[in-house]
Amino acid sequence: MRIELAVNGIECVGDVEGRTLLSGFLRDGLGLTGTHVGCDTSQCGACVVHVDGVAVKSCTMFALEADGCSVETIEGQAAADGTLNAIQQAFQDHHGLQCGFCTPGMVMSAAALLKENPEPTEAEVRAYLEGNLCRCTGYHNIVRAILAASGQDVSAIAAE
Ligand code: FES
Ligand code: FES
Repeated sequence: MRIELAVNGIECVGDVEGRTLLSGFLRDGLGLTGTHVGCDTSQCGACVVHVDGVAVKSCTMFALEADGCSVETIEGQAAADGTLNAIQQAFQDHHGLQCGFCTPGMVMSAAALLKENPEPTEAEVRAYLEGNLCRCTGYHNIVRAILAASGQDVSAIAAE
């Protein structure tokens, strides 16, 4: 079946099966492998993208359901010249990643959080990230990076 959608502002057309997940279409159909697939139980959050501005685990949605939608992935977050956006830069500055597998989903979830809550508390960040798993960092530096990306002073929060 044919679908048409905008991905990172670019109009895309694809032929998908009814069972094709949005995560699979992005990765295998469009080559946007920055959207990671870390589980088959909808738990890890590595696959988070935005669909019409809402953070979605792309493994929980059929590609067909995104027909006509506007999808943003991690590939669309940096500027065309490679300049990182504020969240990506904060992850780099505050060591919010190690292996990086969870990072695309973390960045996309953080972007959704800061859109709806521009100055979250540490507790609010931790609660929002409930659906994003990281096996490396212990989360502390991820939370610190997101607080920093929101413009808050994190100098009093010890790095790990
Ligand atoms: S791959 Fe989607 S939640 Fe794990
Ligand atoms: S940095 Fe390795 S899973 Fe999060």
